[in-house]
Amino acid sequence: MAGSPTPDRVLVAGASGATGEELLSVLRPTDLSVRATTRSYASVDALERHGADEVVIADFFESADAIAAVEGCDIVYCALGSPPSLRHLTGGKLVDRTGVINLITAAIAADVSYFVLQSAIGVGNSKGGLSLPARLLIRGALRAKRDAETALRHSGLGYTIVRPGKLTDRPPSGEVVVGEGGDSVSGSIPRADVARVMAASPFTPDARNRTVEVVSRNGLSSTPNNRVDIDWADDLLAAGHEHNRV
Ligand SMILES: NC(=O)c1ccc[n+]([C@@H]2O[C@H](COP(=O)([O-])OP(=O)(O)OC[C@H]3O[C@@H](n4cnc5c(N)ncnc54)[C@H](OP(=O)(O)O)[C@@H]3O)[C@@H](O)[C@H]2O)c1
Repeated sequence: MAGSPTPDRVLVAGASGATGEELLSVLRPTDLSVRATTRSYASVDALERHGADEVVIADFFESADAIAAVEGCDIVYCALGSPPSLRHLTGGKLVDRTGVINLITAAIAADVSYFVLQSAIGVGNSKGGLSLPARLLIRGALRAKRDAETALRHSGLGYTIVRPGKLTDRPPSGEVVVGEGGDSVSGSIPRADVARVMAASPFTPDARNRTVEVVSRNGLSSTPNNRVDIDWADDLLAAGHEHNRV
């Protein structure tokens, strides 16, 4: 975070999810203090085992929960997503819109310096990266994510929007292909790679206020367009965030 004081505490919203857990693993070796969220008391022990320093029970449909979750945090990593339901198709009340926007609103009020949002290839101008049948099947969720992306871009917060392709639970490939501008890359990517990119974003000056599409090199399903080269600060992150003071 060029020019910002060194962050101390970060929030992982949706830490109990599959990408959230990967984020906890990436952040664990750093000296950042990690606050994790879940709606379920039953997940607290597991989150602590995965490296959370603190666990907050929060339902982001409730703005009061969002306010309490971000309090005292410098960075928000948002890996929220709706559980499978018909609303992916029909839209309506989805955490991808309502919950994320509650979190963005709370982050603005709490003077958070940076917000990293996990979105998806298929959202907004990246619709060409997702097949038409898939797009139709989850069109409600794609619209919700588009609205959340727009809210973040207009928030005044420093941000990176990371749009991954199809998520897998494979080990990290370490070879992420990044595109920008929507019509760029398509395919799949391990959640562990997404977590590394997300974790590094606030410490990567090149990633500031950008929306990027990401897939792994071996997950590419078509020839990439509009590739961008971003020198992710992931090694600095692993070595401890104090090295990244600017
Ligand atoms: N599946 C794909 O191929 C794909 C591709 C691209 C992008 N994405 C997007 O990537 C993101 C992460 O996906 P994932 O599969 O890794 O996540 P996931 O396992 O589905 O986890 C979702 C997380 O969101 C939390 N959550 C849901 N509703 C909530 C609410 N009302 N309040 C607070 N927390 C809530 C869950 O917490 P609790 O249940 O513990 O409360 C959980 O931690 C999602 O936005 C997804 O749409 C998915």
